[in-house]
Amino acid sequence: MKTRVTLIPGDGIGPSIADATVRILAAADAPIEWDRQVAGMAGVSRWHDPMPDCTIDSIKQTRLALKGPLETPVGEGYRSVNVALRKTFDLYSNVRPTRTITPGRYENIDIVLIRENTEGLYIGIEHYVKIADDPKAAAESLAVITRFGSERIMRYAFEYAVSHGRRKVTLAHKANILKYSQGLFLESGKHIAQEYAGRIEFEERIVDAMAMHLVIKPEQFDVIVTTNMFGDILSDLIAGLVGGLGLAPGGNIGTTAAIFEAVHGTAPDIAGKGVANPGALILAACMMLEHMGDRERGARIRTALEETIRERKTVTRDLGGSATTDQFTDAIISRLA
Ligand code: NAI
Repeated sequence: MKTRVTLIPGDGIGPSIADATVRILAAADAPIEWDRQVAGMAGVSRWHDPMPDCTIDSIKQTRLALKGPLETPVGEGYRSVNVALRKTFDLYSNVRPTRTITPGRYENIDIVLIRENTEGLYIGIEHYVKIADDPKAAAESLAVITRFGSERIMRYAFEYAVSHGRRKVTLAHKANILKYSQGLFLESGKHIAQEYAGRIEFEERIVDAMAMHLVIKPEQFDVIVTTNMFGDILSDLIAGLVGGLGLAPGGNIGTTAAIFEAVHGTAPDIAGKGVANPGALILAACMMLEHMGDRERGARIRTALEETIRERKTVTRDLGGSATTDQFTDAIISRLA
């Protein structure tokens, strides 16, 4: 029986990398029936709404979505649809695995960053403070950390470590300065870590020192868990250690739905040129297959992608080649046969 999955191709390079991913899943005989929906600028063009009701309804039914990047206007206009989707479906856990495919500056990186996805500075409560005749004399943003949110992301990180045969969880925080909010996150983390003592190693690091250690010796890290904004920044840093965002997938996972996506954006500079690297969305689809209980198929596609990249013959230009999105996709498909 086929599983219905909502497909949101997205904006910019989104539709072309989504097409590539759909072709690859079909070539691997993945039993998926796609329900195509729009969001972001494509939602505005079609339904005058960046997050149309029909898209939300579809995810409510399928509880599973694969999503291309969505454009977010900077400084003005509608708020991030990505953030809104996480809130709507309470997708509290953002999982971003990063692995060396072709050894470059670093040889052996295999890190999974787990970011709390619904709290912290991303709750969207901000305002300007008017002083005298300056309406923007100051701006305030509220960061909210709860014991409930901190404990559940910690438990998710430890359960992930257990189910994926990982050995260590590192909690990154800034509790030395933000003693209340970050302090609560750290306290909750230590509390949950006790339940896994003897099974999974636990350590905590201050986030700025952690950033340095990630650059100096990233191989020492295994699973990292952190709050929303630190997770946003550290996950891009980690992607940079293995060659950038072109191969960085992410899963947004809650108790009632999960949305898988590429970490990169809409790449407006190369949109429409047919040269985008579909690798990150393909890897996101592999994560989705694993989430669906189809680990073997996900691993098979990942291997085909990795081998194609290691061979270096038919890869897109961000990976040092000159292939188009379609040629790269065909090369992966030929290894799936
Ligand atoms: P970006 O990730 O779109 O682009 C940064 C650089 O990486 C560009 O030079 C781009 O060409 C390159 N790049 C990104 N993905 C690539 C791929 N698959 N293949 C080859 N090269 C690739 O980041 P930027 O420019 O900051 O954001 C553009 C738009 O994307 C904005 O509207 C932003 O809000 C949105 N965005 C959406 C995200 C999402 O939906 N998850 C995440 C990040 C940004």
